[in-house]
This record gives sequence, structure tokens and C-alpha cells, in this order.
Amino acid sequence: MSKLLVSDLDLKGKKVLIRVDFNVPIVADQITDDNRIKAALPTIEYVINEGGKAILFSHLGRVKTAEDKENNSLYIVKTRLAELLNKDVIFVPETRGKLLETEINHLQNGDVLLVENTRFEDVDGKKESKNDQELGKYWASLGDLFVNDAFGTAHRSHASNVGIASNIGSCAAGFLLAKEIDFIGGAISNPKRPLVAVLGGAKVSDKISVIENLLKLADQIIIGGGMAYTFLKALGHDVGGSLVELDKCDLALELLKQGKDKIVLPIDFAFTKEFKDLEPAHYGTIDTIKEGEMSLDIGPKSIAHFTKILKEAKTIIWNGPMGVFEFEHYNLGTKGILKALAENKEAITIIGGGDSASAAINFGYQDAFSHISTGGGASLEYLEGKKLPGIECVSEK
Ligand code: 3PG
Repeated sequence: MSKLLVSDLDLKGKKVLIRVDFNVPIVADQITDDNRIKAALPTIEYVINEGGKAILFSHLGRVKTAEDKENNSLYIVKTRLAELLNKDVIFVPETRGKLLETEINHLQNGDVLLVENTRFEDVDGKKESKNDQELGKYWASLGDLFVNDAFGTAHRSHASNVGIASNIGSCAAGFLLAKEIDFIGGAISNPKRPLVAVLGGAKVSDKISVIENLLKLADQIIIGGGMAYTFLKALGHDVGGSLVELDKCDLALELLKQGKDKIVLPIDFAFTKEFKDLEPAHYGTIDTIKEGEMSLDIGPKSIAHFTKILKEAKTIIWNGPMGVFEFEHYNLGTKGILKALAENKEAITIIGGGDSASAAINFGYQDAFSHISTGGGASLEYLEGKKLPGIECVSEK
């Protein structure tokens, strides 16, 4: 990677501002998935082991009103972070002001401080999300060095990433950001071939730009999940009550035309009459669908067909489930793809963030792939070929 890395910096005794992405899911006051916190540990541990003072910034949720603040404090993350680091973390319940400045000035080498949710600054004029110049300058003034490790936020141009970077002189990538750039960036700029993309998820409209970009780059694109039915409908099949975006059929036809030899659609499906976690009524080709039925997953022949293609691949990017994987009876397609990826030990295997990452982790495949991205929106925009502000703001070496 040509970018400046945290390990290129002299950290001893320095106040090191680190932008992490601790935007984790919280249900009933419990963090339900702490992978983003775990993924930030290598950079934080490196900074403190090198004698730096780590000052962490993150957003959590969307904060628009004073009430939103009550439900989106980072305090809960501080507790989990302290457990994972096995050391005290100083928490400042403010995003600016005397208390924050005093706590930062009292830090000893090796200390870790977590600043309150950067989006608390959005309540009064969206200062964080609109990259308010004065805010970026203020946060930059609190430290000596800046490290951006928040890949999940890299598609945003906010005060806590781009704002700090442009006011502090230089910005280094943390180890997580660097890993995301190496794997996702590497797969789309210089892949080992064949490069096969597996795209699923509910809607074609969410993935149009990804498909368009990957049509230029990939050798094959396997399409499953809800969006496959829009393609099948566009080809003239009756898909019953399956998920379809009628207004995207023309576009799907156009993509099929462009990707003639590249796009691979499922060949069989799991049909049912109700959107419920019940045994499928039957499996079969799309033309075996009966009155009142819908498909909620790909079938065993599709899994076998896709597995054969994936066996030959040297780089695989997977983004989006193959079916309603939250239902036990309709997770076989998603599990089948995960198994095929895990079995191809020769290939570089990259799992997109969001649903795909949680499916991979929940089905026990957390250590089976080259890389599981921590970015949902960010990894999609990266795959679309967009330049991400949070990567662009990192200095070259
Ligand atoms: C994410 O979860 O995708 C990132 O943390 C960005 O969050 P946002 O979509 O609220 O900006």
C-alpha cells in the first residue's frame, strides 16, 4: 500500500487522534455484535504499546435531536473496549470543551481515552456530518497525529475523518483501514483471476452500480437472493409472489445484455406459499412455480452449479445473502456459498460487510476467509469503484 501507515509514525509521547468505527448494533442496552470493536484493537494496541496516548473518536447511530443523545452514548462501547483491551479506558461524555481538553492533557503514555459520540455535534447544525470546518480544526488541535482506522465510515466526508485530516498536516491509515484497502482495493484493481463476484440481497436497485462496475472487472458474476427474481422476470418468467422490482426489469435486461457471458443466474429455487420459516413446499426450476407461491432461497442444483464456478476462482468477492437466511429453512443457499468459499483455500476470499459479514460470522465462518469487511455502505461504494473520502484523506507515504 502506498499510503502512510500507523507503523510509519513515531508515536512515543504523542497525542494520537484515532478515528475508529464503533457504530455497533445495540439491542436492549447490549452490544449484539462487537466485531467492529475487535477489528480496531490492533491499531489501538499498537499505538499504546509504542508509548502513544490514544484518543478515540467514533460516531454511533444517527443523532438528530437531544433525545437521540440519550440512546446513543458511546459509554456502553467504552465498557466493552476496556474489557477487550484489558485496561482502563477514560471516557469523556463531551465532544468538546474544558473537560475534554483537561483529560487529554492529563493522559500518560499508553493511556486510552474515548470521546463521546461525534454525532452529538449534529444536533446543533449537523456539524460532524457536514464536515464543519471549525469543528474539524478544533478536534485536530487536540492531538499531535491523526490515524484513520474507520473503514465503515470511509464513504462519509465528516469532520471526524476528513475534517481532522485536513487540519492536522497528515493522516496515517490504521491497520484495519489498510487491510480493507489491500483486500477490497486489491481485488478490484489487480485481482488474481478468475475473479468471481457473488451478489445477493433483496434489491437490484441497491446493487446497480456494483454490478455495472464489476461487469468491467470480474470474469463471472453470480446473482442470487431477492434480486435474482427481477432478472428472471425481465427474461419473461413468472416468478409468482417472489420479490421483484418491476421498474428495474428493463435495467436488468440491459445488464444481462452487457454481461452476456458473465452473469450467472440460479437454476432452481425453494418455493413456499407463505413468508414464514416453514419447510419449502418444493424445489424446482422457476417454471415449476405454482399459483400463490414465492421463492425464498436458491435450490440445491444452484448451490452445486455455483460451487463448481467458485472452485475455479482465484479471487472471490461475496456481497449479499442468497435467500432469507434469517429463516432456518431458507438459509441453505447462503450457507452453501459460504461453504464453497471456505473450501477454496487457493483463492483470496472477501466478504462484504453488513448482512454478508454477519451471516459469515453467525454461521461460524469468521476465520475461514481472507477478509471479512467491517464496512456495509463503505464496502459497496468501494466495489462501485467510487473514491472514498476516508481513504482519499490518508496521506501518501
Ligand atoms: C455504517 O454502519 O455503515 C457506518 O458506521 C456508517 O454509518 P452511517 O450510515 O450512519 O453513516
